[in-house]
Amino acid sequence: MSTAVASSEAEASVLAQGEAGTEAGAQAATEEIVVVDYGGQYSQLIARRVRDCGVFSELIPHQAPVEEILRRRPKGVILSGGPSSVYADGAPGLEHRLLELSVPVLGICYGMQLLVHELGGRVEQAEVGEFGRSDLTVGEPGTLLAGMPAEQTCWMSHRDTVYEAPPGFSALASSSASPVAAIEDAERGIYGIQFHPEVVHTPYGREILLRFLTEICGCERSWSPASIVDDQIARIRAQVGEGKVICGLSGGVDSSVAALLVHRAVGDQLTCVFVDHGLMRKEEGEQVVGAFRDTFNVPLVAVDASERFLERLRGVTDPEVKRKTIGAEFIKVFEEEAARISTEEDPVRFLVQGTLYSDVIESGAGAGAATIKSHHNVGGLPEDLEFELVEPLRMLFKDEVRAVGAELGLPERLVWRQPFPGPGLAIRVVGGEATKERLDILREADHILQEEIRGAGLYRELWQSFCVLPDVRSVGVQGDERTYAYVVVIRAVTSDDAMTADWARLPYDLLERIASRMMGEIREVGRVVLDITSKPPGTIEWE
Ligand code: XMP
Repeated sequence: MSTAVASSEAEASVLAQGEAGTEAGAQAATEEIVVVDYGGQYSQLIARRVRDCGVFSELIPHQAPVEEILRRRPKGVILSGGPSSVYADGAPGLEHRLLELSVPVLGICYGMQLLVHELGGRVEQAEVGEFGRSDLTVGEPGTLLAGMPAEQTCWMSHRDTVYEAPPGFSALASSSASPVAAIEDAERGIYGIQFHPEVVHTPYGREILLRFLTEICGCERSWSPASIVDDQIARIRAQVGEGKVICGLSGGVDSSVAALLVHRAVGDQLTCVFVDHGLMRKEEGEQVVGAFRDTFNVPLVAVDASERFLERLRGVTDPEVKRKTIGAEFIKVFEEEAARISTEEDPVRFLVQGTLYSDVIESGAGAGAATIKSHHNVGGLPEDLEFELVEPLRMLFKDEVRAVGAELGLPERLVWRQPFPGPGLAIRVVGGEATKERLDILREADHILQEEIRGAGLYRELWQSFCVLPDVRSVGVQGDERTYAYVVVIRAVTSDDAMTADWARLPYDLLERIASRMMGEIREVGRVVLDITSKPPGTIEWE
């Protein structure tokens, strides 16, 4: 099936930029699996794994009207895990119309218990829960587990347990704590597994999902970075027509990929604006300009506004005031540049934003969904700018954005750039004013850290690695002289989503090399320390 042809309904919904989870049929031309989200911690991961298998997948909150699912005409439905017990008051129920769609349904964990409970089987609370790795014994493989080893390990996370499959179903497998760990009624196209196929600790998980997608749902597996590019180019053209478009480039992978997609779609109708606020890392500005203007020939306005930002930051020490000051100045500079690009006959009508699918889900797809912390929007643009938004990454997870970036030829350095806060180095000069002198010291220290981390092959493994420069000096000796110089803090963390983080266990010899280079090469640095705080209780940034 062609992914480049968007249905008119799909185009209308993309144009409408509807609320999270309401872009029904946003990928109507593509085969789709709907994951109904019952609030499980792995729900997003299920959708990601399905997409890894080459099938487009969306997460729909269980509270959403069933029409949301029907309109997508899915090739299959997966019911996710969730924290509830099927017996609890107010536990999410099963929408029986899902079973009448004539497409296969797979329940995972809570999703399976819900199917069993509603279709006449027996679910009860077990004396002991089953959490973590378990041994699975496949008795009768059926369609779902055909070709799998009779003994395998899997990942479980449940207290309620299925004791009896509903009438018409076969019990396929068991584990020591789950008498019925997998079920199916192939005739009705209903399947269930108690364990989690989406996590890496279930070695045959991907194979089971693949069987469900291909053998059972009949999916063709056409979702790929190349198909995403074709599809988005068609959508962008349909939305933008002949209109003029601008895009704020930050150097991050999201805005870079969004800009490249739009440029592929509408060429020089797009102008990118790169505001150099003087708070970037060393050579970062040059890399962005080099890639976009010189390699990709994208019309680019690069504004050196560092003096303006330094001026505004003079005397500012409070972190929140710093953020707000930088955010407000950023918008001012951006608007000035947009006004320069706009003409009366041909005004700028569209603004590109690198909104991701995870932002869409988080910003209110379901009841009680987490709201994005306000400071994460600082340094972005306000919503009341008079442009229509173009959001080509709105349906993509971060790893897909990187894959699309690589497909479009974006340099590896930009594709894999670690997250970097909008207010930049200013919020890493802590407890004091972000002066040019301090920013320069921090930039040099950060450069050494990045070089060494990359050299050690650890850059991609770390969520973020950076330096912090507190307004603190410390006594030392160098040669025969007493010194009184700055303390640099090394901060390196591992994380999946920045909501929680652990401090990275960097090798001692790497730390030693970093510290001695910093003290040898930067005269103003006299001491280097390592931050070993996880999040919580700390945050990733210091301010
Ligand atoms: P914290 O420090 O809250 O950070 O653990 C979580 C993630 O958010 C980034 N961060 C920011 N990003 N503007 C941004 O664009 C900001 O003001 C800001 N503050 C923190 C931080 O780098 C981490 O990835």
